[in-house]
Amino acid sequence: MARVFSGIQPSGDVHLGNYVGAINRWAHDQRPEHTYCIVDLHAITAGHDPATLRAKTLDLATWLLAAGLDPDVCTLFVQSHVPEHAECSWVLECTATMGELGRMVQFKQRAEGRDTVPVGLFTYPVLQAADILLYHAEEVPVGADQRQHIELTRDIAHRFNSRFGETFTLPRATLPPAGARIMDLQLVDKKMSKSLDSPQGTLLLDDSEATTRKKLLRAVTDSGTEVRAAPDKPGITNLLDLFAAVTGAEVAALEQHYDGKGYGAFKGDLAEAVNGFLRPVRDRHAELAADPGAVAEALRKGAAKAQEVASQTMAVVRERVGFLAGTVARSPVE
Ligand code: TRP
Repeated sequence: MARVFSGIQPSGDVHLGNYVGAINRWAHDQRPEHTYCIVDLHAITAGHDPATLRAKTLDLATWLLAAGLDPDVCTLFVQSHVPEHAECSWVLECTATMGELGRMVQFKQRAEGRDTVPVGLFTYPVLQAADILLYHAEEVPVGADQRQHIELTRDIAHRFNSRFGETFTLPRATLPPAGARIMDLQLVDKKMSKSLDSPQGTLLLDDSEATTRKKLLRAVTDSGTEVRAAPDKPGITNLLDLFAAVTGAEVAALEQHYDGKGYGAFKGDLAEAVNGFLRPVRDRHAELAADPGAVAEALRKGAAKAQEVASQTMAVVRERVGFLAGTVARSPVE
């Protein structure tokens, strides 16, 4: 069984795209050799509000637990609770080059030409490499936009191993199945995303059922009336994919069922299906949100498990790099 590591940022509200593309997949696939991380260190690279970050981190953890991630099965933790991430990142920064980081598309999109870009936005992928390499992950489930960062992780790991001796495992990205890519309901050619700033096009897990319904009824559709997936019908195609993703039905079967019924009936049923799909996780989230102590306890357990692995990897890294052996003071996770 492959060792798996993935991370999710506690920035913005959790939406259906995160849920279907990542969170729900993680919950379904979880095993003892899987590690999932709320990457709060990554969430401070572009300006943030401290109180909001703290609240979002707790809320994201609550959603992950509500989705069924079980701290007794996998490892679920908050990145800043395991200081080895920042330490490993520094060592890897001395292995990575300006040239390769400058070629990262995500960095270029966010930063190029701006003089006041925080250095952390530039070194962000190295921290991501540290996340993955500390746990010797073989597979990293991510969206296609993260593929380049995983390639970089391989390059950094390979270079480190060549220079200092076999230390890190070279990971590979595993992309979600096609149907797991949920598109914005208004900007139908864009992936649903917290950075898109399309409130009407983004279905939040935190939305009420009424709001969910309203957003789905107002989702952009195409001209015509036929419920059919086709390249010239991107709006309806997305909604059919979404229907299929939340019910497990085949798109072809849905097309047949809604033949001649029009968009209205289709969207109404879709709203029912999405709300039905999210109801258990929304209910569980409400229960857990009322018991933040239980969430904190799950994260404490997760950090302890994660640190057990990360500290062993760092002990090897320190030795390989040539740091003087001694007693390492580390903030304990009791
Ligand atoms: N950069 C990832 C994103 O924006 C989040 C992330 C951080 C991550 N560290 C990771 C994903 C390690 C996979 C593995 O989605």
